[in-house]
Amino acid sequence: MQTNQLSTDSLPQHIAVIMDGNGRWAKEQGKPRVFGHKNGVKAVRKTISSASRLGIKAVTLFAFSSENWARPQEEVGVLMELFISVLSTEVKKLHKNNLRLRVIGDKRRFSERLQEKIAKAEALTEHNTGMVINIAANYGGKWDITEAARNVAKLVASGELAPEEIDEAVITQHLTMSDLPEVDLLIRTSGECRISNFMLWQLAYAEMYFTPVYWPDFGEDNLVEAVTWFVNRERRFGCTGEQVKALMTSS
Ligand code: IPE
Ligand code: IPE
Ligand code: MG
Repeated sequence: MQTNQLSTDSLPQHIAVIMDGNGRWAKEQGKPRVFGHKNGVKAVRKTISSASRLGIKAVTLFAFSSENWARPQEEVGVLMELFISVLSTEVKKLHKNNLRLRVIGDKRRFSERLQEKIAKAEALTEHNTGMVINIAANYGGKWDITEAARNVAKLVASGELAPEEIDEAVITQHLTMSDLPEVDLLIRTSGECRISNFMLWQLAYAEMYFTPVYWPDFGEDNLVEAVTWFVNRERRFGCTGEQVKALMTSS
């Protein structure tokens, strides 16, 4: 038995995840890449459920980058269909669990059908008070900062803001997720150690955790391992995975 109990204050408040390695996972089994994406959805479910049971405030999942349009058209098509079908099947469940779903990124490039599904899902879960789930889709960190700059420039052009008044807080307010705590833990799966144009501004002080596990294999134990690593880095005392797990509620 552990005597020193871990406090929930030690946990990260906002976890961001670059869900990578679906294609390689599928290839290892001699299957097409899209088989990996389909199995990646299971890992998304597990991560959402485990993070919410840990009492994490917000989770941001990188599902599709602004650069991912460059992939073969067929793969992009399957990913879009997957978003639509997952939104249709999962949203009610998220709502029942009091979770709030948001999609961040440039949504205008998506089909009307997908944009409608997204708007409905966001509206349904808007007033929920549990964990916030951000799905980053057609998202790029450079896009996020560019949009913020454009919107700040509009305020200057209309005379509502003086150039001298632009400071970090003003930029932050105009970025996506400005209402959420800063990202304190970034997880990237599949062994790659880069940001790939994910949140640039919001990761300024995040601890970065890289694991060789491919995304479809990422489960509760992997999340607990990452969170344990985070707690030990931040607080510099040796807490165990069991202590982190003990904070999980059962539902
Ligand atoms: C991540 O897996 C999922 C998306 C980018 C949509 P990948 O598709 O990048 O898989 P790998 O990196 O090729 O293995
Ligand atoms: C980053 O993964 C984007 C997502 C996980 C959605 P990629 O696999 O697309 O990144 P790169 O191209 O290898 O850097
Ligand atoms: Mg990849």
